[in-house]
Amino acid sequence: MAAQQAEEQNGSQNLDADREVCVEVRDLWKVFGPNPRRIVEDPELRNASKDKILEETGCVVGLRDVSFQVHRGEFFVLMGLSGSGKSTLIRCVIRLAEPTAGSILINGDDIVPYDEHKLGELRRSTTGMVFQHFGLLPHRSVLDNVAYGLKIRGVAASERYDRAQVYVEKVGLKGWEHHLPAALSGGMQQRVGIARALTGDPEILLLDEPFSGLDPLIRRQMQDELMELQAELQKTLLFVTHDLTEALKVADRMAIMRDGEIIQIGSPEEVITNPSDSYVRQFVQDASPTKVLSARSVMEQPPVLLYSWQGPKAALQILRDANVDSAFVVTRGGRLLGMVTVERLVQLIRRKGTYLRDALDPDMATCGGDEVVEDLVPLVAASRYPVAVVDEEDRFLGEVYVSTIISSMIRDTEVEEAEASETELNGEEDSANSESEEQRPSSPESADSKGTGEGVQS
Ligand SMILES: Nc1ncnc2c1ncn2[C@@H]1O[C@H](COP(=O)(O)OP(=O)(O)OP(=O)(O)O)[C@@H](O)[C@H]1O
Ligand SMILES: [Mg+2]
Repeated sequence: MAAQQAEEQNGSQNLDADREVCVEVRDLWKVFGPNPRRIVEDPELRNASKDKILEETGCVVGLRDVSFQVHRGEFFVLMGLSGSGKSTLIRCVIRLAEPTAGSILINGDDIVPYDEHKLGELRRSTTGMVFQHFGLLPHRSVLDNVAYGLKIRGVAASERYDRAQVYVEKVGLKGWEHHLPAALSGGMQQRVGIARALTGDPEILLLDEPFSGLDPLIRRQMQDELMELQAELQKTLLFVTHDLTEALKVADRMAIMRDGEIIQIGSPEEVITNPSDSYVRQFVQDASPTKVLSARSVMEQPPVLLYSWQGPKAALQILRDANVDSAFVVTRGGRLLGMVTVERLVQLIRRKGTYLRDALDPDMATCGGDEVVEDLVPLVAASRYPVAVVDEEDRFLGEVYVSTIISSMIRDTEVEEAEASETELNGEEDSANSESEEQRPSSPESADSKGTGEGVQS
């Protein structure tokens, strides 16, 4: 894959440039069936559809030319529908499934040529895996289960129980050490699975749908706990889920898979605001954008901004010319000073005041640029004025209205509806040419603003 394309596909975040890559997958293929390499090597077959390959060769394409990077300490989520290749991919990363072609670099070292011995070493020292169906030893206690990996490594009993105890407590199972797994609820059993994976102190934790067997309340709780653990332990996480809400909640970045390919990589916000094609858009349409959009991405620029050195008469004139009732006041460095209204300006002029700062309304509300829109709703709803968005140094960035929030909530619905009616108008022609829909961007900037996470306000 060309470097530039790889970079684009790998999603955004300029910050990422200086972050160390922990896991890198390059041009990875996994084909199940007889003589799988010929699929990769045959120029026609490698570009054929999954169905066609199955029909012609009896082979199932599990992964097709997958490339991505995961940074150290990153919470990276693989998501996609059933059969899209998530488990195959996460298993290939530690060669529980053997890749057909491509490279897997862990800390810069390609592990594809590793022999069994080196592979065993890698799995014991660097990676830990958590499966959907806990995979606990039923006749061993919680503590024994957690210590099991260390036992295999030959760690002495006292040390392995000490270490296991630490992680049993970290996952909130103190008091349950000597129970058998069957005595524990699903959520608790999965905590044992997580503790077991963590006890070996792996750098990289691979989790394949770890919470999908749990009921929604426990599931949310487990997500919170995993995020807390992650904040504390700073592991590199590869996490598989087919639950969008879960992905949007936990991911630093997520990769969306279809038919063995990664079709988009980005932060939850990028994926929601700029789905790369109609498949991703369909995938994310149920997500409430307010859960992921930040104040920064929905804010607007006010029609006027006042400056602390302006006099009240000039300010009043500016507001009247712009036909607005209020405006934010900033200092020379762009720092937000407050908000004035026409009424307060008139009073100031009557009092023969000269400084805007003497007319500021103390009721102004502010929020940080990274605050999630959903959390702003009560603030914005309770405020008489738009809420000012500021950066860490209190510099004014923009403003958020109730109407801005509502439009961010309904924006996706509108896109879908517009498309539905367009499809209806075009009739059957459109369905005969499915590519035309793929190529229709959701908004004029969606094609090239992908990856920036900014400038997505429509
Ligand atoms: N051992 C195997 N032999 C043949 N085909 C396989 C094998 N394992 C997976 N596949 C195929 O590879 C593709 C990807 O499967 P995979 O299990 O990775 O999907 P998934 O995204 O994890 O799905 P799910 O959400 O259901 O777990 C599917 O088409 C599947 O049928
Ligand atoms: Mg799976």
